[in-house]
Amino acid sequence: MSQPLAVAIAHSNIALIKYWGKSDSARNLPAVPSLSLTLDGLTTTTRVHFDAELAEDHVELDGSVALGREQKRVVALLDRVRALRGFDTRARVASRNDFPTAAGLASSASGFAALALAASTAAGLELPLETVSGLARQSSASAARSLFGGFASLPADSECAHQLAPEGHWDLRLLVAVTEEGRKPLGSTEAMEVTKQSSPYYAAWVAHAPTLYQEAERAIRELQFDALGASMEQSTLMMHASMWATRPAILFLTEGTLAVIHRVRTLRSQGLPCYFTVDAGPHVKVLTEAKHADALQCELTALSQVKRVIPCAAGAGARLISETELAGKVALC
Ligand code: PMV
Repeated sequence: MSQPLAVAIAHSNIALIKYWGKSDSARNLPAVPSLSLTLDGLTTTTRVHFDAELAEDHVELDGSVALGREQKRVVALLDRVRALRGFDTRARVASRNDFPTAAGLASSASGFAALALAASTAAGLELPLETVSGLARQSSASAARSLFGGFASLPADSECAHQLAPEGHWDLRLLVAVTEEGRKPLGSTEAMEVTKQSSPYYAAWVAHAPTLYQEAERAIRELQFDALGASMEQSTLMMHASMWATRPAILFLTEGTLAVIHRVRTLRSQGLPCYFTVDAGPHVKVLTEAKHADALQCELTALSQVKRVIPCAAGAGARLISETELAGKVALC
């Protein structure tokens, strides 16, 4: 093998139009189209080294050995890469996030995007970005979008994501208002399955999601901020409404989440253009135009329910980095 080792970095992406629900659970295909903004913050760095000496894969996430489901999901992606390459060599994987893992900040998106790129490269495969996106999508559908910078789209039933517009297309900011530290109680895969099985609102969500997607796609093309914001908020509230109607109900929104949502609506009515979105966790991500980002950050930071605010601009897609660049960035283990 020419190159048994590779390091990749990828950024989180936040869906402006949400993916929630699978049309095919076994293949992890999304039931609805989604559209995201890749961020310049919230970064995962991952090194993969295929090593013929290893008897089994060794996975370290944020400095600790990964066990159970976390480890299985990484090994499953490595297995897909091994199957494509037609070899059986085990790998040493070390990965680090510069933000809290599994806390509703889309760590699986950046994590699996970085892993898919590093693992396929380390295995000596030179795959088109779409194929790498497809590899990441099988682990976490939102990860398919993090391979691309700027605005990315993952159509319903699609194997892979693609870029809608590059990061320079529109100078927007997404401010992540962190309302709680710590891991979220329920993973998105389980939560989606429960929604599909038991929510009477799930069918309505799946039926309406393409309309919201089309509205948002046009708003991005035409740089219409209020139109994008309106579609974005309806998408997130419809997604959560479908979860509220499950039995038992799934409530990711906490008191802190709702306080931020109400504040965003008040600020908007007072003339500050901003719109919210919430994923499978309690944090609120608030979209605004670059010129309003400082004012919005002050307002959000002043809320007692907000622990901290992470301001993000549109970021680049996943990329490979050299060991030298890695040494200047993070210690992986
Ligand atoms: O890709 P997953 O399984 O982590 O699910 C992501 C689901 C949401 O973050 C809530 C929405 C999305 O499109 O990213």
